[in-house]
Amino acid sequence: MDKLLICGGRPLQGEVSISGAKNAALPILCAALLTAEPLVLDNVPALRDVDTMLTLLQRLGVQAQREGSQVHLQADALTGHEAPYELVKTMRASILVLGPLLARTGQARVSLPGGCAIGQRPVDQHIRGLQAMGAQVRIEHGYVVAHAGRLQGADIVTDMVTVTGTENLLMAATLAEGRTVIENAACEPEITDLARLLIAMGARIEGHGTDRIVVQGVAQLHGARHRIVADRIETGTFLCAVAATGGDITLRDAAPETLGAVLDKLRDAGLEITTGPDWIRARMRGRPRATGFRTSEYPGFPTDMQAQLMALDTLAEGTAVITENIFENRYMHVQELCRLGAEIEIDGHTAVVTGVAELLGATVMATDLRASASLVIAGLAARGQTTIERIYHLDRGYQCMEHKLQALGADIRRLS
Ligand code: EPU
Repeated sequence: MDKLLICGGRPLQGEVSISGAKNAALPILCAALLTAEPLVLDNVPALRDVDTMLTLLQRLGVQAQREGSQVHLQADALTGHEAPYELVKTMRASILVLGPLLARTGQARVSLPGGCAIGQRPVDQHIRGLQAMGAQVRIEHGYVVAHAGRLQGADIVTDMVTVTGTENLLMAATLAEGRTVIENAACEPEITDLARLLIAMGARIEGHGTDRIVVQGVAQLHGARHRIVADRIETGTFLCAVAATGGDITLRDAAPETLGAVLDKLRDAGLEITTGPDWIRARMRGRPRATGFRTSEYPGFPTDMQAQLMALDTLAEGTAVITENIFENRYMHVQELCRLGAEIEIDGHTAVVTGVAELLGATVMATDLRASASLVIAGLAARGQTTIERIYHLDRGYQCMEHKLQALGADIRRLS
């Protein structure tokens, strides 16, 4: 299994390009199921999760070819309607085929994702919404088995804000008969990006980017070309890294407008940030200031940045109080950060981080994607060598992370 070896203590300097967003690319790839015509997607990140999704789509009969960061998809002859356990267990986002498959073919059989490292993560809201649209759904042998004639527009209020739940219902509603209103919808930029693609395919959608999305169903969608929005979590991760190591970096091909709460917190921590339409420059001098935060739905502070900003707080002047409000078990990086010398106490959903003057390199283990990113940040700032094991988690969501960090002057390498 691959490991990362980091010799910490070097400030980051230079420029890197941000890749397309994983969490926008995954639903957008599934949108190919909604039409028989070709989709051309640009800025698709080269990630393990994207490869898994392409494998799943191909099993369903979608033709998929990748050329660099461009992906061509065509679902003119769907041959299957099942997302099997062996794929779903490696990537929960496989549930995103449920809504489009059902809307296009009237049937879907998708393995229940089951719990994962960061929490239970049920999909009851996806199912309830599809039932409201007239689908017959039952759970059978660990699978969500759904049937429908043409889906019917419905008024849906989700019990909580769910990102992939909103995406599944949004995609299903584009081909339903009549009007669907999704209340308490997620407002994440990835939803907006998906809606933009669907509109380019002929869907009639209003209110995306707000908590009330209105979709007027159409009989068919057509082909389109779309560029995936920049990855705000990758961007935020590099910003936390430079805030932890010091230095001066510029991130190209970024989308600063999607990062409001993250930029605010990093400015509070002492990072000097300037932005242009598609770039962010960040300079850090001196020690960071402790910055407490609570994770929440967009436009609040994203749970996907919690571990990375916590890594920065471990080195800050002062004490930071952090509350994780989205997932019930998203503090697995804490033990590993403590192995590097961090002082963190957990009480339920709250973590209290008392900044230390320095971290010391050690061997640590990555437990999930964003936890891995936090360990990379801590390792870059720590004195001496840090070895991060189980780095495959990182490859699910960060394109060439160690190459990008090398380009910024970090001493980081992969051991296969
Ligand atoms: N929830 C339910 N029932 C549902 C759906 C969600 O109880 O039917 C709960 C979840 O258990 C959780 C909360 O609602 O406590 C929010 O979950 P959400 O459905 O929004 O999460 P998700 O759609 O499964 C996406 C991202 C995650 C990101 C979360 C929150 C994708 C593919 N995944 O997950 O990304 O953390 O939204 O923003 O978009 C990551 O990239 O590292 C990652 C985990």
